Amino acid sequence: MIGIGAGDPDQLTLQAVRALRSTDVFFVLDKGEVKADLVGLRRHLLETHVPEGTYRVVEARDPERDRGAGGAAYSSAVGDWRSARARLFERLIAEELGEDESGAFLVWGDPALYDSTLGVLEEVLEHGAVSFAYDVVPGISSVSSLAARHRTGLNRVARPVQITTGRRLAEGFPADADDVVVMLDAQQAFRRYADQDIDIYWGAYLGTPDEILDSGPIAEAGPRIERLRAEARERKGWIMDTYLLRRNPGER
Ligand SMILES: C[S@@+](CC[C@H](N)C(=O)[O-])C[C@H]1O[C@@H](n2cnc3c(N)ncnc32)[C@H](O)[C@@H]1O
Repeated sequence: MIGIGAGDPDQLTLQAVRALRSTDVFFVLDKGEVKADLVGLRRHLLETHVPEGTYRVVEARDPERDRGAGGAAYSSAVGDWRSARARLFERLIAEELGEDESGAFLVWGDPALYDSTLGVLEEVLEHGAVSFAYDVVPGISSVSSLAARHRTGLNRVARPVQITTGRRLAEGFPADADDVVVMLDAQQAFRRYADQDIDIYWGAYLGTPDEILDSGPIAEAGPRIERLRAEARERKGWIMDTYLLRRNPGER
């Protein structure tokens, strides 16, 4: 399992490049037409770093997930989706990999952060129909990329930082952290905090030619970000964005 960074071919580690070069088969999962760009980005990463003719790419359609579900139904929808992915991975490994070949799943950013591929591979091994050994190569996460692009740290001196989801932020600002990184936010949960003394550092399509950055107090930057987000989403059909919220501790 290879972490490939947020999208910029220069943000692969040397370890990742070595791992790519020793891989026979790359499994690339496609989530449908709107995400075809992401398959293109991965192909571009491979063309940049691996000599042509030394590998095969196997594309497959990622199972659809029920995104409307909330509460307990949300956990069960995620569980079903994971199992459907595990069955797909199992079939790909059984049918597309030779006995002595090595395969790789390419994971955006770092496999340790909000990614289910590790859990899915473990489910495949537990099922027992195929067996294999695997390693994990860390990657530069979208969070590291965001902080670097804004030339800021994630935490303030000797203070904690919390990484969470838009769904969680919509339920309330974390009580014990003033620096909060938000991922997977389809609802722009930062809007809820426009009346507080909080700065936002926002980035979309980080590391790609479409990258957009904005920052400032939520009250000022928030409406701009909403507009930029809506326009980009309309233009490209999909968006991946993440942001850091930095609260003035006096707001607690
Ligand atoms: C399923 S998580 C995967 C995170 C990934 N493992 C990482 O280390 O960045 C997907 C979320 O990561 C963030 N993300 C991933 N790539 C991004 C990018 N290029 N630009 C901005 N946000 C990104 C978004 O918040 C998106 O909703």
